[in-house]
Amino acid sequence: MRYDKAYFDHWYRDPVTRVKSAAGIARKAALALAVAEYYLERSVKTVLDIGCGEGNWLAPLKKLRPSIRYTGIDSSPYVVARYGKSRGICLGSFASMDWCALRETYDLIICSDMLFYLSPSELREGLSSMAPRIGGIAFLELYTDKDAVIGDFPKKGLFPAAYYKKLLRENGLVSVGSQCYLGPELTSHAMEMEHGG
Ligand SMILES: C[S@@+](CC[C@H](N)C(=O)[O-])C[C@H]1O[C@@H](n2cnc3c(N)ncnc32)[C@H](O)[C@@H]1O
Repeated sequence: MRYDKAYFDHWYRDPVTRVKSAAGIARKAALALAVAEYYLERSVKTVLDIGCGEGNWLAPLKKLRPSIRYTGIDSSPYVVARYGKSRGICLGSFASMDWCALRETYDLIICSDMLFYLSPSELREGLSSMAPRIGGIAFLELYTDKDAVIGDFPKKGLFPAAYYKKLLRENGLVSVGSQCYLGPELTSHAMEMEHGG
């Protein structure tokens, strides 16, 4: 798949074909910030956005937390050439984030609308290198084979919920609902009834 300008025009900008909106992304950003800050008991300072596309989360995050330090990673050469400098996006893939100069941990890690593009081996590999970097929470949009989602994703590559739950558990992540997962440093902060399933 080519994640070029035509791709982003189609799914994000063309009024007939788009499935994403700035308002929808702003709502997700507000949710992820609120959950991270609830568990961290302070403001979010650092964000890593993996598979960030054109960096559409940056503006709503900055609007709510102007001093936030944002790093995006994306495997699209188009995205990095066009927005790399202005939006802080470096070229990398989920399984090989070490191409970028990363911090040890981030308050909030985002993987929005991108995990379903990954092969099972890249998902496994990337999760295990990402998990220790979650200083607060990760917002991971994972879709299962039962979810009805509109988009260009490879539907037959999706697995049952139990598959993803096991993978997340193996990496020390705890669901607190609405696509939010506590990283290993915070799992002990959640009461039993805060855990999702
Ligand atoms: C649907 S866009 C999502 C962009 C953004 N996260 C959002 O929520 O608007 C999917 C993005 O995932 C990126 N992507 C796909 N496979 C990737 C991989 N293996 N590693 C990193 N990024 C990847 C694509 O380049 C594209 O920018």
